[in-house]
Amino acid sequence: MKIGRITISDRASAGIYEDRSGPEIEKVLGEVFGAETKFIVAVIPDEPEKISAQLRELADSEKCDLIVTTGGTGISVRDVTPEATRAVLEKELPGFGEIMRAQSFAKVRTAVLSRATAGTRGRSLIVNLPGKPTAVRECLEILAPAIREGVAHLRGEDPHAK
Ligand code: MTE
Repeated sequence: MKIGRITISDRASAGIYEDRSGPEIEKVLGEVFGAETKFIVAVIPDEPEKISAQLRELADSEKCDLIVTTGGTGISVRDVTPEATRAVLEKELPGFGEIMRAQSFAKVRTAVLSRATAGTRGRSLIVNLPGKPTAVRECLEILAPAIREGVAHLRGEDPHAK
């Protein structure tokens, strides 16, 4: 299992503050997929070309099974993660964003401010998450069963085979 995690933040990439969301992705997905999981790490600014290029590299060259981004999903001027993600997706999975927002809203009323999406590129599943470390855990716990099964589908494994 190979997972790319990308922190998308002008300030974290400039070293102005510590990236706590990227390590949180690793912690939660380590619990979901086990200690054998290999992570590839990137911390980049909110630049659409850089985001799309990083996603293409992790999908096309690194052949990651799963790529998870954190940050840049809101409505601030610099928030462009969903657009930069859609630019490289082959199949969009709108339900990932919908369920993240719907279930998070029960706890956090500001969850509707996230425009996070997901989808596939080749055999890679790509998932956007909001930028806060607490949101990373909340959203990954909601999505974990669909991520696990989605990755199996892309690998050509039938999770229901007896
Ligand atoms: N979703 C969950 N589960 N928990 C949160 O704390 N924060 C929201 C939202 N989604 C939040 C959440 C807030 S305050 C914002 S502004 C948006 O995600 C977008 O965050 P981003 O721009 O850092 O991606």
